[in-house]
This record gives sequence, C-alpha cells and structure tokens, in this order.
Amino acid sequence: TAFDLVIRNADVATASDRFQCDIGIRDGKIEALGKQLPAGAEEIDASGLLVLPGGVDAHCHLDQPMPDGMRMADDFFSGTRSAACGGTTTVIPFAAQAKGGSLNAAVEDYHARAAGKAVIDYAFHLIVADPTPQVLQEELPNLIRQGYTSFKIYMTYDDLKLNDREILEVLSVAREHKALVMIHAENSDCIGWLTDRLSQAGQTAPKYHALSRPMAVEREATHRAITFSELVDVPILIVHVSGREAIEQIRWAHGRGLRIYAETCPQYLFLTEHDLGGEGYHGAKCVCSPPPRDHENQKAVWDGLTNGVFSIFSSDHAPFRYDDAQGKKLGGKEQPFQYIPNGIPGLETRLPLLFSGGVMAGRLDVHQFVALTSTNPAKMYGLYPRKGSIMIGADADIVLWDTKCKVVINNALLHHEVDYTPYEGTTVQGWPVLTLSRGKVVSKDQSFVGTAGSGQFLPCGTPSI
Ligand code: URP
Ligand code: ZN
Ligand code: ZN
Ligand code: ZN
Repeated sequence: TAFDLVIRNADVATASDRFQCDIGIRDGKIEALGKQLPAGAEEIDASGLLVLPGGVDAHCHLDQPMPDGMRMADDFFSGTRSAACGGTTTVIPFAAQAKGGSLNAAVEDYHARAAGKAVIDYAFHLIVADPTPQVLQEELPNLIRQGYTSFKIYMTYDDLKLNDREILEVLSVAREHKALVMIHAENSDCIGWLTDRLSQAGQTAPKYHALSRPMAVEREATHRAITFSELVDVPILIVHVSGREAIEQIRWAHGRGLRIYAETCPQYLFLTEHDLGGEGYHGAKCVCSPPPRDHENQKAVWDGLTNGVFSIFSSDHAPFRYDDAQGKKLGGKEQPFQYIPNGIPGLETRLPLLFSGGVMAGRLDVHQFVALTSTNPAKMYGLYPRKGSIMIGADADIVLWDTKCKVVINNALLHHEVDYTPYEGTTVQGWPVLTLSRGKVVSKDQSFVGTAGSGQFLPCGTPSI
C-alpha cells in the first residue's frame, strides 16, 4: 500500500487556508493531500469533523526542579498525556538553570527527565537564572547552536530574577546568536514591598496574592523590558500578559516600530481575581503570576487576540496539587499567599477553552485560532515547517475536532496528575476527539491511547516570524 494511514474527507483549516481533501501519511509524515487518494493500511473517516494541525504549547512547566519542599505534579509522561488529550502535539517546557549552577547541567538533567516518558514531541526553552561570563560567552552560544534557541528570563522571583544589567547582557547574546528571549515582566521590589505591607496588616488569604501584584507592577516591568529590547535592538517576547495596561505598553512599542511579541494564556480570559476567593483557601487553586484580573481586563485580552497584539496563546501549565504538602498546601498547611506555589494547570484545557470562547463565540476565525495555538509558536521557536501546519512534508501531527460536541469541564475527564482544574464546571463547545502524533493515534474520544517514550526531542532552528 501507498500509505500507512489515510484520513478521508478531511475539512482542513490551517493558519491561512481551508480545503477538503484526503490526507495520506507515511512514516509519520504527511505525504499527500488530494482527492481520492489510494488506500492506506489504515483509514480514518473525518466526515463532519474539523481537521487542524496539532497544537504547539510553547509555555508549560513539566517536572521542573522547585525550591525546597515544592514539587510539580506532572512529569513528562502525565503532562504530555494531558496535552495530547487536549489536542496538543508539541510542548516546549523549560530547562531551568539554578543560581550558581551550569546551564549545560540543567539541559542534561532535563533530557533525563523527558527520556522514555514523553508521549508527544518536545523541545526545550532554557531559563537563564545566573548569567555568569561562562554562561554568556560559552554555554549559551553553544546551546543555541545545538537547538536551544529560546530562553526565558525573570524580572521577579528571588531564585530566578535578573537585574537590569544582567537582562541587557542576556539580550545582547540573543541578538548576536539570533535567539529569542521570553521575559516574565513583573517588578520584584514593588511586589516585595506590597507583600510586606499586606502581611503586616494580617492580610494573608490567597485573594491578597492579586493585591500584591497589581497591574501597575506588570505595566512598569513590561515598559522596562520594551526599553531594553530597544536599547539592545533585539526582538523579545513578553510572556503571560494579563491585561489592558500591559497591552497598552506593547501597542505603544508597536507604534514605534519595535519588535515586541506577546503571549497570553487561558487564565487571563476565563478567571478573575474573584476566583482567588474570599477568606477561604480554595482560591489557592487559581494563584498564578501575573494574577487573573477583572472582567474589563479579560475583554482587553480577548480584543488583543482578535486584533493581533498577541502572537501566541500558551497554557503556562505549572502543575501543583491543591491538597498536597508539596503543592498549594505547602508543608501540609494553608499558607499565607506569598508562600503558595505559583501556577495552575492548563495543558489539556488550553485549546478547548480558546476554541469555544474564541471560534465558536465569533471572536476569532479558525485561522486565527490555528495561528495563535500552533503555527505562530512553531515559527517563533524554529520548529516550522516540521510543526505548525498541515502540508506535504510536515509531521503528521493532526487533530480532529468535533465542533458540535459540548463538554462540561470536570477534573475527572482530564489526564494530568493535578487534583483540580481551575475551569471546573465551565461548558465548552468543540472538543479534540482524535489526536495523531507523527501519524500515530495518541488520544481518542477523551481516552489516552499513546505510549510513554514515543515523543522525540526537537532541536529548534532560528526563531522566525
Ligand atoms: O504562576 C506562574 N505562572 N508560575 C509559573 C512560572 C511562570 O512564571 O511562568
Ligand atoms: Zn513567568
Ligand atoms: Zn467580577
Ligand atoms: Zn510559566
């Protein structure tokens, strides 16, 4: 037979095109798109379903080493299993340098964590936490050449943050070696000062997390990051943008012709500060940074997705269990807000939430949806054209969507190891009912059917968009 698998009667949408065809797959790659293709060893009928490129989740944290006592709930197996069941076929988590540690060691350690576990393909971003001369002059340039072409830096968190001078040094390495720097933009000293004031006033419930990191703290750091990008003359990506004032800074930069790219995440569309709760502790489930804002900011983020401020939509999956001494109840008890591990799960719900709230609700067309969730991240991080589209020669990472299927999100449906979802009870319309990773079915009808270790490491090329 010509093909290992033929998908019949596919209604394909890419970031640019929409067409009806059969898809012929061999050796894990798309070999033909056409009418009445010859028989495959296996066949799938996609009649009535929408066929999209697999999602690329370019911001997620899996099995990342944490400060004392904390542990991420998802490793490369459960994390990628959950991603696959949510229509994602590529993840790009982070290999994080420890302060005082080497970046090469972090990469080696992270490969060991992924090997034999990932069920879909993966690449790594680096986190640069300690830009010593050795790191800037040797480790980073060598790693960029080896396919680690993007790195995240932090303007906050004591164990990760860089000062302004260090940020400039990292950006200039990125410029010289054509890498892309992702910036977590929040002002650390402002957060520290506000946190101390709240604590001294006895305001320790999870809801005060939002008050300790108000929009102004993110707006200021966003502006500062843009200024650094301008000074060094290198593009940057601002990650997890949460609301209007940061968006205004990015729009202002675009007006000046600066190459500032921006990412946002489901939590800034579907959660608000109210989800951090009243005086009770359940709000710890929605503690992430930047925090969810209010309805007006949600609307600004939706508008930014519609009108092109954002290039990328990622989960920022950072999985901590709620009822767990290594998770939100660190050390076995309810913690003052500043000690609650930051981050929420979202690998599996990212695409259904955006599809439902975006495409089904008429805010995004299907091509924008594909661009934001698959094509743009693939291009941005140097994985295109292997990933991010449905075309001849690309990997057969393909997802069949049932656009009529209504699902009430419930943690029991999901495939992560987290004991809750922030989106419990949310109804979505449109669900990824079949996911193929390099031509192999990895999830079908909300069940995982893939194999640990079948995911491959993807060295990234030069970022481009
Ligand atoms: O709260 C969050 N987002 N935790 C994950 C780490 C990060 O800053 O992206
Ligand atoms: Zn971050
Ligand atoms: Zn409200
Ligand atoms: Zn993150």
